[in-house]
Amino acid sequence: MSLISQLSSLRAVGIAASPNGESSRSRVLLAAAVASLRDVGLKTQVVDLAQLPAEALLGRAAAPAVARAVADVAAAHVVVVATPVYRASYAGLLKVFFDLLDEDALADKVAVPIAAGGGAGHLLAIDHGLRPLLSSLGATVVPGGVYATPSGFVDGIPSEALLQRIDRAVMEAVSLTAATVARIENQPISHGLAHPFGHPFAHPSERQVRHARAS
Ligand SMILES: Cc1cc2nc3c(=O)[nH]c(=O)nc-3n(C[C@H](O)[C@H](O)[C@H](O)COP(=O)(O)O)c2cc1C
Repeated sequence: MSLISQLSSLRAVGIAASPNGESSRSRVLLAAAVASLRDVGLKTQVVDLAQLPAEALLGRAAAPAVARAVADVAAAHVVVVATPVYRASYAGLLKVFFDLLDEDALADKVAVPIAAGGGAGHLLAIDHGLRPLLSSLGATVVPGGVYATPSGFVDGIPSEALLQRIDRAVMEAVSLTAATVARIENQPISHGLAHPFGHPFAHPSERQVRHARAS
């Protein structure tokens, strides 16, 4: 199967963690990353955390919109996370959502971290905050995270340099996803169980693999 036809069976979800609507810089970069993934053939969607009901995000109530968002992440092969830098780290909104996910919810998924800060001082929020967060859920995180400051935008439009960093991170995500899919397809488990998770590109988590091996 060609890479292009493989890509059209893959899904990407963008997670927006800023409450700042259209004026959010991290959201603008997320839109650019999602558009790039769509351009190379992936099916894409965006989960806007600020639109989700707070009670359910805090785990105090159930809400279909939050359950859908969790399911959208579960179904994705690529997860792009875009957050403002708050207090030298990612937004609390992102943390409460990720606290709702299973501990291996991002296993066999590739993650792209994007952060927008008020200045360059907290550049390491990507490496000290976002990367460990994504890795803790099992994600493979692309080498090239994207950090933006207000000087990278003119009238809300990102600079060419920022867009190039987005494109590079997206291409890394596509390569890593192709490798992940190939690894999953070649797992010994497929000898006894022909595509035990349905579609060959469906994403078994480590837990699903253990369960399938035990049954
Ligand atoms: C509560 C709060 C805390 C912030 N903390 C930081 C910070 O620690 N470091 C930083 O560089 N910028 C900080 N900022 C600035 C934001 O990161 C910056 O405005 C960013 O563009 C917001 O992302 P957004 O445009 O996607 O909403 C903070 C802003 C707010 C409202």
